[in-house]
Amino acid sequence: MRKMTNNIISPAGHISDLLPDQNKPRVYIETYGCQMNVADSEVVLSILAENGYSVSFDPKQADVILINTCSIRQNAEEKVFKRLDMFSRIRKNNPGMLVGVIGCMAERLKEQLINNFQVVDLVIGPDAYRKLPDLIKEAGTGQKAVNVLLSREETYADISPIRMDKNRVSAFISIMRGCNNMCTYCVVPFTRGRERSLDPEKILREVNNLTRLGYKEVTLIGQNVDSYLWKSKETDKEISFCQLLEKVARAVPDMRIRFSTSHPKDLSDDVLSVMSRYNNICKHIHLPFQSGSTRILGLMNRGYTREWYSERIKAIKRILPDCSISTDIITGFCSETEEEHKKTLSLMKWAGFDFAYMFKYSERPGTKAAKKLKDDIPEEVKSRRLTEIIELQNKLSQTSKTKDLNRVYEVLVEGASKKSEADLFGRTSQNKVVVFPGKNHKPGDIVKVRINNCTSATLIGISV
Ligand code: SAH
Ligand code: SF4
Ligand code: F3S
Repeated sequence: MRKMTNNIISPAGHISDLLPDQNKPRVYIETYGCQMNVADSEVVLSILAENGYSVSFDPKQADVILINTCSIRQNAEEKVFKRLDMFSRIRKNNPGMLVGVIGCMAERLKEQLINNFQVVDLVIGPDAYRKLPDLIKEAGTGQKAVNVLLSREETYADISPIRMDKNRVSAFISIMRGCNNMCTYCVVPFTRGRERSLDPEKILREVNNLTRLGYKEVTLIGQNVDSYLWKSKETDKEISFCQLLEKVARAVPDMRIRFSTSHPKDLSDDVLSVMSRYNNICKHIHLPFQSGSTRILGLMNRGYTREWYSERIKAIKRILPDCSISTDIITGFCSETEEEHKKTLSLMKWAGFDFAYMFKYSERPGTKAAKKLKDDIPEEVKSRRLTEIIELQNKLSQTSKTKDLNRVYEVLVEGASKKSEADLFGRTSQNKVVVFPGKNHKPGDIVKVRINNCTSATLIGISV
């Protein structure tokens, strides 16, 4: 399927090209959590395909089931426990099947997964995926297999992922792994290890692969893309995120470029200025603020104040007047008062976010917050605060969409709308979803659409 030249793997392709092959063992992969996990599942599939595996889209038909997991909040883990129960029922009819837990829960819970769930044969952390073929073989002999070693170097940069998206329009490229920030509530530094950046040449190679495969959009991903830093071993030359972004924008002028996640303490005016200079860099920034209270931000170890965050929003609006801004919010963090909750609401209103992911604080074992702070906000208070936050965001999202009425946007078509086959959906540069009646347009086309209606989640229009 692919050629190896000087250890560089040429475009690996798309999951739909890996036809289920009766002669090869079949792997079924299910992915939970963030974009990093989506990107990792594509690396895992590539490693397995290279080692003689085919795929299954149905867990009942699989020889190996892998579940790529997330530990960020307790409910993320509970979802996975339920799936493991389901897989254990499936396995009753197929006793030879192997079940593996990979990703962040594998890293956090390690052997406990094997001890507590009879169905689990393999536990493999995010830095051990190269070992998967060997570990599957080991588990096939009846030996439970665990590898949760974290690495300071592993980036999988030489492995070209097999894409698993539906539409072959938009793909992720992981530009870094791990996180060094140690926000006190967060499990990621423990599940993903130290921060490391990929060689820009390898990133550019993958961007070019995607162009050849017909992709029209790429999202550069990392837990804190602003701290991307590549240091060449040969020349000592350094490449920052800002420089990488510009290189990518220049290399593929017809491709849309997005990135996520930006960190308020590190997002620089230089990045904003590169965004303003290149049309193909999408005008959207995801800038989680977590809390509107400087005291809570301190307890969270976020490294910025409310004022600093507000100044970053002002800079975005000044340098990129057409840019949309989305955010993440945690409500009910340890000792958060009613006054401090109101500060979160007032910051939301002031910034006028276009979109937000909103969460109740969930204590994660082993984090600094779990060790040093009391999870003392009662569940019903967390729920009520979250409802207030969601209700406010619904209004802000509606306002944001209403501003787009009667404007014409270039929409990158991703596929048929969920509600009606006659309608297509796609996104504006600002990452807003647009639904419109298709006229022979296909996924991957850029279509000019005039917006004539909206809900708080979607723009509705007609092609012009
Ligand atoms: N690296 C990114 C976010 C990664 S996790 C950043 O720092 O912005 C995605 C979001 O999950 C976070 O922004 C935060 O809002 C939320 N989150 C993380 N840990 C959480 C916890 N223990 N409880 C509730 N929400 C949490
Ligand atoms: Fe977690 Fe903070 Fe790192 Fe984001 S920046 S992954 S919230 S520790
Ligand atoms: Fe979850 Fe791990 Fe991502 S904990 S949010 S899958 S890095």
